Amino acid sequence: MLEPVKLKVASARMLTETVRQLEFVRGDGGALAGYTPGAHVKFSLPAGERSYSLVDFEPVSPGSGVDRYRFAVQLEAQSAGGSRYMHDLAPGDEVLALPPGNDFALVAGRPGLLIAGGIGVTPIISMATALKHAGTPFRFHYAGRTSAAMAYRDELEQAFRDQLVLHFDDKPETALNIAGLAASVGAEEHVYVCGPKGMIEAVKSAMEAAGVTPDRIHFELFASAAEQSGDRAFEVEVHSTGEVFEIPPGKTIIEVLEAGGVELVYDCQRGDCGICQADVIAGEPDHRDVVLSDSEKDAGKVMQICVSRAKSARLVLDL
Ligand code: FES
Repeated sequence: MLEPVKLKVASARMLTETVRQLEFVRGDGGALAGYTPGAHVKFSLPAGERSYSLVDFEPVSPGSGVDRYRFAVQLEAQSAGGSRYMHDLAPGDEVLALPPGNDFALVAGRPGLLIAGGIGVTPIISMATALKHAGTPFRFHYAGRTSAAMAYRDELEQAFRDQLVLHFDDKPETALNIAGLAASVGAEEHVYVCGPKGMIEAVKSAMEAAGVTPDRIHFELFASAAEQSGDRAFEVEVHSTGEVFEIPPGKTIIEVLEAGGVELVYDCQRGDCGICQADVIAGEPDHRDVVLSDSEKDAGKVMQICVSRAKSARLVLDL
């Protein structure tokens, strides 16, 4: 069981209109645990747990301590309290957090195709840093709405001049050509993508169509699946006990079942790690994750209960 540590805000500054960089030191002044590229820290905030990726322009060793953790947090338009809270923190404020974890690990010694969308650039920066310092070839594609909306643009152009390609939504001539990238993936190359759900799904399906094996496609969602308009309440029956819970709009299956005393195993709560997967005994899931393939979603035999909902009035889950 990991013990939480108290992190203290050392500095904060806006990188763009909506992205704020925060640097934390250990509240008691000691060294912080090291980590591997792509790692995140899970914060305990009043709105619940929120994970943010660590950003590094210098390599970090998992075996040695570091003096600070750096994050870049985008203020979400529909913030449920997490990003708003992080934007309101001031130097000296303290927050509880777990030591770094990593669900988006870099495969050492293998060339990388790194693809970032928006604030999904944060873990990708640390991966690019590690690959550069290891002398491992990599390509770095970073897409955003406009040049001004892209965090760390100048720093990235300086650090990764030879590998970086920028794509701006407001300049169609710079558009990210996902099919073209998929066709160019080398036999040893691993693909890493972090960004919104649509980008991850597009990259995954283009890579699979181009014959890139799933073990070489790595992905992480930068935000939880947003609530969709038109979400309705539905019921979940826990097969082992027969208990029935109503899942209202705005609440996840995990939130409701946990509050009702059901013990569950989960991690990311964004729909990208697969740890919360449950077998579906009856009912039709409404899949919102990026873990399952299209055919698995169509089959409807399993679902990720952290984000997915139901199209039927009731789901019976093998829990
Ligand atoms: S907890 Fe990660 S997919 Fe549900």
